[in-house]
Amino acid sequence: MSRPAPTPRTVLVLSSLLSLLPELHAQGGPPLPPQAEARIEALVAGMSLEEKAGQLNQVATDAREGPGGILLSCDDLIRKGWVGAILGKDDSAGINALQREAVEDSPHRIPILFGLDVIHGFRTEFPIPLGLSATWDPALVEQTARFAAAEAARQGVRWTFSPMVDIARDPRWGRISEGAGEDPFLGSAMARAYVRGYQGRSLADPSSILACAKHFVGYGAAEGGRDYNTTEISERTLRDVYLPPFHAAVQAGAGTIMSAFNSIDGVPASANPFTLTQVLRVEWGFQGFVDSDWTAVRELMLHGIANDEETAARRSFLAGVDMDMQSGIFLGKLPGLVRSGRVPVSRVDEAVRRILRAKLELGLFDRPYAPGGVPAAAAEIHGRELAESSAEESFVLLENRDVQGVPLLPLSPAPERRIALVGPLADSADDMLGCWSCGGRARDMVTLRRALATRAALDRFKITYDRGTEIDGTSKSGFSAALGDARKSDVVVLALGEGRSTSGEAASRSSLDLPGNQEELLEEIVATGKPVVLILFSGRPLAIRWASGHVPAILMAWYPGMQAGPALVRTLFGDAQPEGRLTVSIPRSLGQIPNYYDRLNTGRPRTDAEGLGGDAADQFHVSGYVDGTSAPLYPFGYGLGYTRFSFSEVSVDAAAVSAGAIERGEASVTVHADIRNTGNRDGTAVAQLYIRLRGTSVARPVRELKGFERVRLAPGESRRVDFRLGREELAIWNLDLRHIVEPCSLYVWVASDPTRGKPVKVELTE
Ligand code: NOJ
Repeated sequence: MSRPAPTPRTVLVLSSLLSLLPELHAQGGPPLPPQAEARIEALVAGMSLEEKAGQLNQVATDAREGPGGILLSCDDLIRKGWVGAILGKDDSAGINALQREAVEDSPHRIPILFGLDVIHGFRTEFPIPLGLSATWDPALVEQTARFAAAEAARQGVRWTFSPMVDIARDPRWGRISEGAGEDPFLGSAMARAYVRGYQGRSLADPSSILACAKHFVGYGAAEGGRDYNTTEISERTLRDVYLPPFHAAVQAGAGTIMSAFNSIDGVPASANPFTLTQVLRVEWGFQGFVDSDWTAVRELMLHGIANDEETAARRSFLAGVDMDMQSGIFLGKLPGLVRSGRVPVSRVDEAVRRILRAKLELGLFDRPYAPGGVPAAAAEIHGRELAESSAEESFVLLENRDVQGVPLLPLSPAPERRIALVGPLADSADDMLGCWSCGGRARDMVTLRRALATRAALDRFKITYDRGTEIDGTSKSGFSAALGDARKSDVVVLALGEGRSTSGEAASRSSLDLPGNQEELLEEIVATGKPVVLILFSGRPLAIRWASGHVPAILMAWYPGMQAGPALVRTLFGDAQPEGRLTVSIPRSLGQIPNYYDRLNTGRPRTDAEGLGGDAADQFHVSGYVDGTSAPLYPFGYGLGYTRFSFSEVSVDAAAVSAGAIERGEASVTVHADIRNTGNRDGTAVAQLYIRLRGTSVARPVRELKGFERVRLAPGESRRVDFRLGREELAIWNLDLRHIVEPCSLYVWVASDPTRGKPVKVELTE
């Protein structure tokens, strides 16, 4: 977290801050080489107010009103210099044509910045972000982002609206699929990985694109999981949970931030001076530019904090939004607001400078046009390999019970075996794309059915395929064929889940059940008595309580992207291991939501067996439910493999360390544990380091992730993992909302998930 001790959010601080705004914004970002800065100054000096507002205007290519209220086509807007950025175009021909209008026909020949939602791949689709986060492998995630950047940049898309770093703890929220799950520490690691991948070593590299960390901030805390909904987040929780991944993205150099739709404590995030200026600019020193989310500036009127467009523009712009996505209000209203003295021109100039800097850094002034064309064959092959390995690492094995004395998975591909493939998601290429498919094409997706058929031809086992039902179906007409084939088979592979449009933006659900009559199909297939492998495709945790008790093998596949089929087939037959671990807890029932692992204890916790780290408690009057446990079905961090691991007890280098020395960066706590592969196959353990602080001035979570490492081990092999806990990991937002290391008792675990392991205690002394 940030070093400067933040000031608590008070009316006093905010009002003095607001009075400082023009000065703050006049300070500017990191200087580019002097010639570049001089170029920016010369441009700014020569631009009219309308042209300046034009740089702050981002549009899709539809017609809209310019200053003065006249409706203009996008081409006309560009030629007047009234468009700074365009979103939604993904082909070099279309992009270059619009770019030509800007660099040949507009007054200052300033290139346009083209942005797109490149979320988990461009043409080559990788698993959805929630799946990618389940790899616990930031290096791999970085590679996927790097690959996506190169594909996008070739077409002229030099800006992506990714990563989505919103912490999400409510699986009803459709956009949980777009992020890295419920934990701020893991979320921060993933945020850094995406930024590094997109932006590469230098934005000037033609294969680099600008990252945009979104949605600033708190969007994932939408009440009731309803998209766009209001949030109520205390400042401490904001700083503990929702801000850290954004801070990590900023520290990794993210060039842009997108302001969110939601309001926080009554203040819409796209007009929130506390988050957009106090935190982002003053505390973190962010030097890029802030883009509003789509029409978020206009929506301030619907939120009820602006009765007209002028007020919406002024509130949002003065709070810290630099670019207006698709409202057209900055373009239409800022010039008048400056002329009437209600917005300082210095603030406009600063926003323009930030945007011009980004364009210069990307090299757009020198190379405005996209090369286009298709990548070399070698790059395509690399993309497929990356899509396959990232999918394999993302799969989370939830159950793998013995059938006739051995775990059901991996399956044997023995000749003459009969596999009944059943389910509406087994052959649905389109659904493999997941949310935000960008330039991905369904015809490039390899389905499970296709890949299984290829493998069956090779190994001479037999497969049958029945859809059984539709994803949202209510008809049982397909059941009997599916059940007939299941009865004749040796094993059933059942591919169920949600359609891809059920996840992502505006796709919240009030139920986590398998849609349609899939649960019925599942239960009837299991009733045949045949061993069943259930593969779940979805962008969120589903309610699978019955399945968890009755289906021997369950694999969470998310939406795996282009190489869905090959990755699944390799995993089913043991050529690859399911290496993923959950980054979001799977609840036992809808009524448990929210249910995340790093909760605070109550004064009346459930026992350890049922919760995470609670103290022993009475049978009565405990926090929980009279009709069931509060423990999730599968916790954050959980996932099986085809081998087993043992974790040694944790050892630490010292039983007591000075809190002050840690605070000053002069000391840290070092933690070790040995991990052994006790099974008979290779495998990857994910060593997870959790802490609990007790005796602090404010209550801290029962477990907090503060380190992790993937460890690949051969059978019988063991390896020591070492972690270091310093200020970054041990500082808390204390009673006075200062971010410091307090004297307290530190408990440390290294385990395979937060419900396991034995703690060791280290005193953080005065
Ligand atoms: C709205 C979404 O909230 C945001 O994530 C996305 O980047 C923009 N639309 C642009 O498509």
